[in-house]
Amino acid sequence: MAAETTAGARLPLVVLISGGGSNLQALIDAERAGTLPVDIRAVISNRADAGGLARAGRAGIATRVLSHRDFGNREDYDRALDGLVREFEPELVVLAGFMRILTPRFVAGFRGRMFNIHPSLLPKYPGLHTHQRALDAGDTEHGATVHFVTEELDGGPPVLQARVPVLPGDDAERLAARVLEHEHHIYPLAVRWFADGRLALDAEGRARLDGEALRAPIQLDDASTPVGHLS
Ligand code: GRF
Repeated sequence: MAAETTAGARLPLVVLISGGGSNLQALIDAERAGTLPVDIRAVISNRADAGGLARAGRAGIATRVLSHRDFGNREDYDRALDGLVREFEPELVVLAGFMRILTPRFVAGFRGRMFNIHPSLLPKYPGLHTHQRALDAGDTEHGATVHFVTEELDGGPPVLQARVPVLPGDDAERLAARVLEHEHHIYPLAVRWFADGRLALDAEGRARLDGEALRAPIQLDDASTPVGHLS
């Protein structure tokens, strides 16, 4: 199905970041290229020094900083974050390197309307230091996963995975860079499926693509030819 990129049919997004924002950039670039029918209404960071804020600024996207340091506890921060996100009336919230654990209350408020990208082949290696953990385990394959966000950290239904080989001589940095390149491909694709109304979280908490419950995430690897779902 071709993406509708006509004005007015674009899905309103808010993107949450904490860092460099290369995944944010991939979304901006896809939108600009006309392959992603979204309207990125705001980029919100919990850190004023997040490099992604400059990327958003250059693209003419509204930016906000909501520092966790200004709040005494997680509940208060997430309540403020919820209010700030809602000011922009997004239909999808995109976590793109947002390095905060979200409260169940915040997550419940965006059930089925929030994605995260995680740099591992979930359910392997939720949490931090995923690249080093994959190397330490002697894995020959690693990757990244786009998933719906639920209360369980990095545990929501996975939608799309990119698999990348672990190569001789890899260290965590080299492996992370290779994975990141693939993240930039799969994140806009998953968001596009959602924007096109093809992807949803059902009442039982399963991801559905084109009406079909996904028993496993769609896989994309170096050798794969885009077929079927992958268009
Ligand atoms: C990515 O590796 C993503 O998977 C993880 O945080 C990193 C963000 O990178 N959640 P960037 O800020 O998008 O460059």
